[in-house]
Amino acid sequence: NKAVTIPSLNAMRASRTPIVMLTCYDASFAALMDRCGVHVLLIGDSLGMVCNGHNSTLPVTVAEVAYHTAAVARGSKSATIVADLPFGAYATKEAAFDNAVKLIQAGAHMVKLEGGAWLADTVKFLTERAVPVCAHLGLTPQSVHQLGGYKVQGKTIESADQLKSDALLLQQAGASLLVLEAIPTGLGKEVTEMLAMPTIGIGAGPDCSGQVLVMHDMLGVFPGRKARFVKNFMDGQGSVEGAVTAYVNAVTDRSFPGPEHCF
Ligand code: KIV
Ligand code: NA
Repeated sequence: NKAVTIPSLNAMRASRTPIVMLTCYDASFAALMDRCGVHVLLIGDSLGMVCNGHNSTLPVTVAEVAYHTAAVARGSKSATIVADLPFGAYATKEAAFDNAVKLIQAGAHMVKLEGGAWLADTVKFLTERAVPVCAHLGLTPQSVHQLGGYKVQGKTIESADQLKSDALLLQQAGASLLVLEAIPTGLGKEVTEMLAMPTIGIGAGPDCSGQVLVMHDMLGVFPGRKARFVKNFMDGQGSVEGAVTAYVNAVTDRSFPGPEHCF
């Protein structure tokens, strides 16, 4: 497969070609996902839950994300590799940059952070220093205690307006991608149409520029509670490669997410 870059992701956004993203934590799965045509691999701080058995993403450290990022980078040849800055790793823009450097040096092409307007200066600081940024709005799991649980966001007019203004500020600050998690379908569509940068939905409806799922969720191996937006792509497949290919095809032909996965 041809290398996926930020310009090629922008071209996909411009031509309305769906972007396929999955989380990935090791070299073997990275090679498999590459072969199946997954465009973006995310070393999510979800690794704390699916790999390490924590009940939230909060205990995850930069060193842990860097370790998994290095493994993914060794396995992948063509995908864009995005690594999560974990909880507490971007409280100031200087800290964000120092930690982002560790993830980029481990092999990431882009770092992801969770939050809105308060991060605009940080996004500008990182992008001016050649660190591409993926933003993340809606349900932001690092804020689980403030949110009071893993709940759908952006349901009121005020919170939807807030999310839209946050998205614009982050784009103006230089963000390259935006993950939208657990928001109403209509809001996912509005935000996607309003922005030039691609949006990647997880429970944000079928109108985003692309979709992402946690690998363990889409393979049906995560023992925890299954979110509404999750689909088990192992159903009817005889192999992991078959399941990942089914996911790539379903995102590409927009048959996933269906209404049963949306809010
Ligand atoms: O950590 C993660 O896996 C994520 C995705 C769910 C977007 O942030
Ligand atoms: Na994450």
